[in-house]
Amino acid sequence: MKKYLVIGNPLEHSLSPKIHNFWFKQNKINAIYNKETLEDADLENFIKMIRNKKIEGANITVPFKEKIIKFIDILSDEAKDANSVNTVYMSGNNIMGHNTDIAGFYLSLKPETINLKDKNILILGAGGVTPSIILGLRMIGVKKIIVSNRTKDKVLKLKERFSFIEVLNWGETVKANAIINTTSVGLKKTDKIQLNSSLFTPDTFFYDVIYNPKETNFLKKAKNEGCMVQNGLMMFINQAAASFKTWHNIMPNVDKNLIKFLQND
Ligand code: ATR
Repeated sequence: MKKYLVIGNPLEHSLSPKIHNFWFKQNKINAIYNKETLEDADLENFIKMIRNKKIEGANITVPFKEKIIKFIDILSDEAKDANSVNTVYMSGNNIMGHNTDIAGFYLSLKPETINLKDKNILILGAGGVTPSIILGLRMIGVKKIIVSNRTKDKVLKLKERFSFIEVLNWGETVKANAIINTTSVGLKKTDKIQLNSSLFTPDTFFYDVIYNPKETNFLKKAKNEGCMVQNGLMMFINQAAASFKTWHNIMPNVDKNLIKFLQND
């Protein structure tokens, strides 16, 4: 039986095993998908297991999406652009690193529901997933991308790679059509992101990359202010589907039943 994994730390929130095992069953694939919490020092050995075919493929999540890169032989264009890998597998004798977060984010925003083309976007955070969000927003054709991060150095580093972004000091406000949380604040139910309350205007769209819990305090506050909100579930589903397609060459089914199944967690 083929083995797949998601690696990260922490991992309690991950629904990757649930969705991939569901699709294995649906597509009659003889495989199992587990999760494993690792430390930085385990990464090299983990890649060896893929090279030795003990593991067929893996998803990489926080905080390893960038750290894994030095162990990869060939990066896809998307992984190179984002400097972030969330999908790993062997092709011939090479360890391949791919990024399906960009596509996952892009596909999660249906233009008929929320059209961000020519809009001004504020991104909170400058961690592992942020470059994928920036690249997804560029594909949509947004007007302006402003990034604010608690540690300013990190956002300045990001600006070296994406010179078109604007930098906003943490805690300062700006008028934006959409605010996207890419920080890890909210993964724990009690987490509260400290934000200036003037950001919460009713005509602003709020998006949180976090999908578990379903409603972070960030989204709760926005909803209470009458704002339109979206969590990271559709991004998660779409990136998982793209990883599945990469590994098995089958585009898995994404429908209401799947969404319901994932939400009942
Ligand atoms: P990494 O920082 O190793 O890339 P990550 O989980 O991908 O890890 O990113 C975490 C993001 O959440 C970062 O933007 C981080 O901000 P810092 O760069 O200042 O650490 C942000 N973050 C985590 N805890 C936070 C908090 N309590 N308040 C604000 N931002 C926070």
